[in-house]
Amino acid sequence: MKITPLAFCLGAEVSDLNLGEPISAHDALLLKKAYLDHLLLLFPNQDIADQDLIRVSSIFGEMMLPPAAHERSSVQKSDAPPEITVVSNVKVNGVPIGELGDGEVIWHSDYSFKEVIGGMRILHGILIPPLEAGGSTEFANMYAAFDDLPPDLKKYALNHSIKHDIAYDTNRALRMGATPVTDPSKGVGPIHPMVSTHPESNCNSLFLGRRLAHYIMGETLEQSERILDALWEHATQEKYIYRHAWKKNDVVLWDNRCVIHRRGSFDSQHDRILHAAQVQGHKPFQAENAAIFKPHHRGASFFQN
Ligand SMILES: [Fe+2]
Repeated sequence: MKITPLAFCLGAEVSDLNLGEPISAHDALLLKKAYLDHLLLLFPNQDIADQDLIRVSSIFGEMMLPPAAHERSSVQKSDAPPEITVVSNVKVNGVPIGELGDGEVIWHSDYSFKEVIGGMRILHGILIPPLEAGGSTEFANMYAAFDDLPPDLKKYALNHSIKHDIAYDTNRALRMGATPVTDPSKGVGPIHPMVSTHPESNCNSLFLGRRLAHYIMGETLEQSERILDALWEHATQEKYIYRHAWKKNDVVLWDNRCVIHRRGSFDSQHDRILHAAQVQGHKPFQAENAAIFKPHHRGASFFQN
């Protein structure tokens, strides 16, 4: 097995490892370390089954079952194991076989709108449109975004929390049964610290969840909107991003506790199918004395050091 850091703010490519075969305890430890060091791992050319995806996922934590298909709009029941989410624009008899369609999926971290957020998520590219059709996924390093904040904003972030609205999904659509939000200060959702301490790396990252109808606790709505816009503009700068252009049988996994991601729209003439699995994260917290913690080493300047 070979682990090669990508020349971006996050990510490493893992080669000479077949995810379809059992992974030794030694390699599993190296993968876990690489995941904590690089935040995202890319495994090209993995012609694997769902059970392999689940087996690999369990290296990174406790499996987290996605909501049942009938709770997730009109997605049809798939033959995949319950741990697997189908991400696709394909329809059979007019009914989608998976989630997220072909539109843009906005910046977010998985399950940030829950009390216990998502940890690692893994995606396996099964049917991938040609490159020019679009649909790449961007990932941004939130350790680096926090470390780079101007001092006044860093201090502010360390002392504020965000209410993570649950009304809208990452396609900006209203979730089933939710009420449209006209005033985010009155929205519903868990409150998480704006800066969260990673329970394994012990480093701080900016934890913004998604933009949507989120709200900074204790601020006027106008102030909250203004500061959230500024934080998002900062956090999504090119220097923090790795953009992944998918190829068939790519497997990509990342850490939602310190990475945000988004997907570009793609040409609806093309079918796209990925299978996903995820492990549980934790309830976000900020450690005491977080302000003096060392930054994570995989920052925007990783390749300049
Ligand atoms: Fe996601």
